[in-house]
Amino acid sequence: MNDNSILIEKKDGVLWMTINRPEKLNALNSAVLDALKYCIADLQADNHIKGAILTGSGEKAFVAGADISGFLKGDRNQGQGFAEIGQALFSSIENSTKPIIAAVNGFALGGGCELAMSCHFRIASENAKFGQPEINLGIIPGYGGTQRLPRLVGKGKAFELMMTGENIDANEAYRIGLVNQLCKQEDLLSIAESKMKTIISKSSIALAQLIEATNASDADPEKGMITEAVCFGKSFASDDMVEGVTAFLEKRKPKFN
Ligand code: COA
Repeated sequence: MNDNSILIEKKDGVLWMTINRPEKLNALNSAVLDALKYCIADLQADNHIKGAILTGSGEKAFVAGADISGFLKGDRNQGQGFAEIGQALFSSIENSTKPIIAAVNGFALGGGCELAMSCHFRIASENAKFGQPEINLGIIPGYGGTQRLPRLVGKGKAFELMMTGENIDANEAYRIGLVNQLCKQEDLLSIAESKMKTIISKSSIALAQLIEATNASDADPEKGMITEAVCFGKSFASDDMVEGVTAFLEKRKPKFN
């Protein structure tokens, strides 16, 4: 179901999906995840639509991560389940038979960076910022970040980003290959649209086969995802997570064990 958590527009064979919680920097709560699931199913089902563009509402954020405000309610199993739900959704984006471009218009942090990475490629505005700051909350990425980030930027750089929790700017993201193209914010959507028009002028069948064949090269992705969800569940059940999340909500620095 979509309750306006995602704004949807269909135009010239392209599905536009705009995550619409700008007051919370488009953080992913369950309503947004449900709406995204609905959109991806619709993308696959609608024969008039050949590809999709995913972006965030407002000028500040693509997605600033999973919604931290819900984190203190869960135990280890809920943490693992939470990771598995996001992983399944993001894998359905990665394995969509129709191309999906992320148009990153600001912060792409945590689940936001993972969401952008699950799209087939990324175009970003110059104000965009990327990072996996979960470690600052005493947890780890749980929506595929431990698997997709090393594939995109190499293991060393991925470890650095995930271990320090530091954000990088759009230029650095471009330099390390996390982003394909940079542009001014006002040009982002038209550049994404023009790229998508080029792509959907090609054979839909060939595009679907291209996606399937290219994704097949990822070594044992299922095992990596299972391990990530189990480890996310463990970190989710820790005292450090309670301290990290409480500190974020109280707008102070965490004191970890
Ligand atoms: N989950 C829930 N709420 C979030 C959020 C998230 N991931 N990211 C931002 N928000 C909320 C803030 O709590 C704030 O809400 P409030 O106005 O009710 O207090 C609102 O969005 C605006 O964010 P704010 O922190 O005031 O903006 P900023 O410009 O000072 O900082 C960020 C922007 C992105 C650096 C900061 O919001 C941040 O660090 N967010 C968390 C990023 C993160 O750790 N993501 C991974 C989660 S696993």
